[in-house]
Amino acid sequence: MDLGIAGRSALVCAASKGLGRACAFALAREGAAITIVARTPGPLEVTAKAIRRETGVAVTAVAADITTEEGREAALAACPNPDILVNNAGGPPPGDFRDWTRETWIGALDANMLTPIALIKATVDGMIDRRFGRIVNITSGAVKAPIASLGLSNGARAGLTGFVAGLARQTVRANVTINNLLPGPFATDRLRANTRNAAEKTGRGFDELWTERMTNNPAGRFGEPEEFGAACAFLCGVRAGYITGQNLLLDGGAYPGTL
Ligand SMILES: NC(=O)c1ccc[n+]([C@@H]2O[C@H](COP(=O)([O-])OP(=O)(O)OC[C@H]3O[C@@H](n4cnc5c(N)ncnc54)[C@H](OP(=O)(O)O)[C@@H]3O)[C@@H](O)[C@H]2O)c1
Repeated sequence: MDLGIAGRSALVCAASKGLGRACAFALAREGAAITIVARTPGPLEVTAKAIRRETGVAVTAVAADITTEEGREAALAACPNPDILVNNAGGPPPGDFRDWTRETWIGALDANMLTPIALIKATVDGMIDRRFGRIVNITSGAVKAPIASLGLSNGARAGLTGFVAGLARQTVRANVTINNLLPGPFATDRLRANTRNAAEKTGRGFDELWTERMTNNPAGRFGEPEEFGAACAFLCGVRAGYITGQNLLLDGGAYPGTL
């Protein structure tokens, strides 16, 4: 299926690795010009080169922390009028809420709620003027089914989800959609770090926990980042203009609800 986004510009945040990288690749395969952001220059350049080599599209790499004002300014300077915005940042650390201070909460809110809102604010009116825009926020399956140790993520991402639910109904008339993608377990560095943390806490082996988690998923495996990227690209395509304000779970069926 031709998604109709060749020549469009896409700003993909937190995209040197994992799910953000997969989204950038999938959009580039559709012919969109890509700006990718991550903090560490080395892996960012490696990803930028790989996307250019495979797809031939223009790729701009911005080494910046997207959760800071300066980082967002650098990203928007490189891609001032994106047609497509993929909001993403590292997830907050696990822990016990009794240990978290106001600063801990502000950090999680900054990364997983206020940064995407700031980037939407900076870009959505241009999209409305141009009568085309696609915004995808990478959130988490924790929005639908909270993960006990990830209270910061459960809380901050639920805040973003509530905000987006309201805004997405105001922009769709101008062909600007805003949706959230909710990953379940995908085999990325983030999942490895969370599993290592659980192994340390429980005294169990990493391999044992990793295999158990994988086999307990109804699909019997973790998600492949490419599968996530493909869903993102579809939501960014011209034919997805009637889908807005939605929360799409990609979790192999792990969420047990009927709806
Ligand atoms: N993988 C899963 O199973 C899963 C499940 C549920 C939710 N999620 C959520 O999905 C998001 C992506 O996860 P992932 O698995 O793709 O993680 P990942 O493999 O660890 O990749 C994270 C990417 O984000 C970049 N990044 C992190 N913080 C950043 C910042 N402040 N500014 C700019 N770039 C930043 C990293 O590069 P630098 O470190 O160099 O900046 C890296 O490119 C996270 O919020 C995660 O919590 C993932």
